[in-house]
Amino acid sequence: MTESIPSLTESSAWKALEAHAATNRALHLRDLFAQDPTRGERLKVEAAGVYLDYSKNRITEETVKLLLQLAEESGLRSRIDAMFRGEKINVTEKRAVLHVALRAPIGDKILVDGVDVVPLVHGVLDKMAVFANSVRSGEWKGYTGKPIRNVINIGIGGSDLGPVMAYEALRHYSQRDLTFRFVSNVDGTDIAEATRDLDAEETLFIISSKTFTTLETMTNAHTARAWALETLKHSGAIAKHFVAVSTNAEEVEHFGIDTANMFGFWDWVGGRYSMDSAIGLSTMIAIGPDNFRRLLSGFHEMDAHFRNAPFERNLPVLLGLLAIYNNNFLGAQSVAVLPYEQYLKRFPAYLQQLTMESNGKHVTLDGTGVEYQTGPIYWGEPGTNGQHSFYQLIHQGTRLVPCDFIAFAQPLNSIGRHHDILIANVFAQAEALAFGKTTQEVEADGTPPWLAPHRIFDGNRPSNTILLDRLTPATLGKLVALYEHSVFTQGAIWKIDSFDQWGVELGKVLAQRIVPELESSKEENLKHDSSTNALIRQYRSIQKEGAK
Ligand code: F6P
Repeated sequence: MTESIPSLTESSAWKALEAHAATNRALHLRDLFAQDPTRGERLKVEAAGVYLDYSKNRITEETVKLLLQLAEESGLRSRIDAMFRGEKINVTEKRAVLHVALRAPIGDKILVDGVDVVPLVHGVLDKMAVFANSVRSGEWKGYTGKPIRNVINIGIGGSDLGPVMAYEALRHYSQRDLTFRFVSNVDGTDIAEATRDLDAEETLFIISSKTFTTLETMTNAHTARAWALETLKHSGAIAKHFVAVSTNAEEVEHFGIDTANMFGFWDWVGGRYSMDSAIGLSTMIAIGPDNFRRLLSGFHEMDAHFRNAPFERNLPVLLGLLAIYNNNFLGAQSVAVLPYEQYLKRFPAYLQQLTMESNGKHVTLDGTGVEYQTGPIYWGEPGTNGQHSFYQLIHQGTRLVPCDFIAFAQPLNSIGRHHDILIANVFAQAEALAFGKTTQEVEADGTPPWLAPHRIFDGNRPSNTILLDRLTPATLGKLVALYEHSVFTQGAIWKIDSFDQWGVELGKVLAQRIVPELESSKEENLKHDSSTNALIRQYRSIQKEGAK
């Protein structure tokens, strides 16, 4: 039982923000910038090597003051302290939430149930490093004596999205003579395509699953084992070609993987917060242990900033508060994440799980229904590609879509003028969204009056621009931690449990029930609703036809 918590909407800061937003609705970014020529220099924060320009939001200094008051009144400070102290703030699962311990340097002390977990974390990191180095150097041999050339991570959700995002993001730093693939979907196409051109003798599978019971992952793991044994013939080969990353040693053993080849983590690491745990084994093999430690140090730098910086200069707190303002007070339903960095092509997908599995909740910590919107929909694609597909709606559609632009000042592949053109585009988009194009400006271009309405941009569309120097393991760590803590900030203010995920359970249970019904040839009484029953019958009949 959790004790009942005070209503957010009754708090004085919330009420003040509602009144403030109502009067501020008429404000336009054009006017706000015109009235204050230094706005763009003031409404920004620079810390831990991250420059956040939040001046192109529909806010005034008063808005920021009220949002900071909301953070204080919501007890954000004590929630942050509770997380870092290892308190069981994931109340519905009775777990501590300590992804910050995964990147704590040796010497730090973080207790969970009286045990200092920092040495445990470093113990696993050391074991990962030995293994990663032996694969990278070719010292780790497959069953027939050939070195490993291909690494396939099998996992889903947090056990896939973090590894694949990090691999793509840090590909520049990866060992290029190794091939990395990521299999997540239970759709057989995923594993079929991942393995079809590979030699089993040179392939290593990393089975990544916190629980080691996830249907998709275990189905793919068994298929991978059968595929490997088709070539390698002997079950003794499994020890050389399969390793596991999990918290569940019993199930790992049950699958047939020697627990000596298992890399552990703990129940206080949420799946979507696990890319820097042993779940990052594929990342470490790709970029090497030293780069992996640089990634961790980037995470840690942002953790320390989040924990210690005053809220008015705290990057994750500000990012979270602005998201709350746009969502709860301006009615925005989504946030577009737009990295102008091709290597971050999987970052929006990664953020979708981080943000939406964390904050897509309908009750507060005490189980009371919320009276306000919680987690917005996060989505996005890298720039400039998105400009030529969905940006039309962001510029001229009827919905308000706040944007997070992410860019790096230095390219990893310096080719001609590419980078200047890329960055000119990101700055131009934020400018166009904020300031738009007025009727007078359109008419001054010589546009005929009948066409003018189509060419007008209202502007006043909010965006943040996050600028970093260069995409490195450390800056990736900072960026991910920035969003992790922004999610935390939002969840703390909404008073929800950002660390459980009960909403994924029902579909899993129903699927387990439907699988045998699809496979059955008996015309037994289907007990679903009429729509589901009809779909099952239709599927069976198409399957039967196909089998003829
Ligand atoms: O279905 C949701 C979920 O539980 C995620 O939270 C998690 O990241 C994913 O499934 C995978 O879980 P596991 O690592 O236990 O296989």
